[in-house]
Amino acid sequence: MGERVTTADFRRWKEEKRPITMLTAYDFPTARLVDEAGIDAILVGDSLGNVVLGYDSTLPVTMEEMLHHTRAVARGVSRALVIGDMPFLSYQVSIPEAVRNAGLFLKGAGAQAVKLEGGQEVADTVRAIASSGIPVMGHIGLTPQYVHQLGGYRVQGRQAQAARRLLQDAVSLAEAGVFSIVLECVPAEVARHITAAVGVPTIGIGAGVDCDGQVLVTHDLLGLYGGFSPKFVKRYANLVGEIRRALESFKREVIDQKFPGPEHAFSMPDEELAEFLKG
Ligand code: KIV
Repeated sequence: MGERVTTADFRRWKEEKRPITMLTAYDFPTARLVDEAGIDAILVGDSLGNVVLGYDSTLPVTMEEMLHHTRAVARGVSRALVIGDMPFLSYQVSIPEAVRNAGLFLKGAGAQAVKLEGGQEVADTVRAIASSGIPVMGHIGLTPQYVHQLGGYRVQGRQAQAARRLLQDAVSLAEAGVFSIVLECVPAEVARHITAAVGVPTIGIGAGVDCDGQVLVTHDLLGLYGGFSPKFVKRYANLVGEIRRALESFKREVIDQKFPGPEHAFSMPDEELAEFLKG
């Protein structure tokens, strides 16, 4: 494995037009696989709530849950930049609380950066966290923690005025000191414009090919999540199908007494067995 990816690499890769790869992970084995595949950054996303913890949104996810999963991920990673996602209400209540919670991802949980959702309204919070020495990734467009305010999970910035607001959000975040910005579910034209306008890399999810990098939820990419799959997801595998087949085969072989076979069992030396049977 190469040297640890840093936020300076992100900035250099934007200048070099070298696309940046990012995926989510929430546990040790997945993080290790993602890291070994050479993915540049691993986001311990609060999508944890949907794809691992069974919540119906990201809103219930707590700091404790995020830190627990970030620690597991960090143990599996040696190269990728590990980014902890700040859950709902961990940064909205006050700036000191936001700085403390952001710091917990780096102090003891093994992340090298944090991500939080929002535009101009979180710029002061971003500034305070970044000036405490904690790299911050922004996230605008479809921000799932704001789902009730947005009126659902829908594409953002389709109207000119909304697109201009997104551009302003990106500029404000860059001025506040983010090292990168996730653009989620925005028209490709808007993402291209924002990417050209800001000096920090944009990482797209449902934002077209012209972002500086791309991120997906690993469970979506692997077909490991049976729930709704948005239009922007490309399924590179169907692990739900594979897992179902394996589980049903196990059940069938146990019922038919085909598992375990002799190759899966242990035996006693003959003389010990004879002694044992003598009673
Ligand atoms: O929580 C998450 O996984 C995310 C990505 C979709 C960017 O925020």
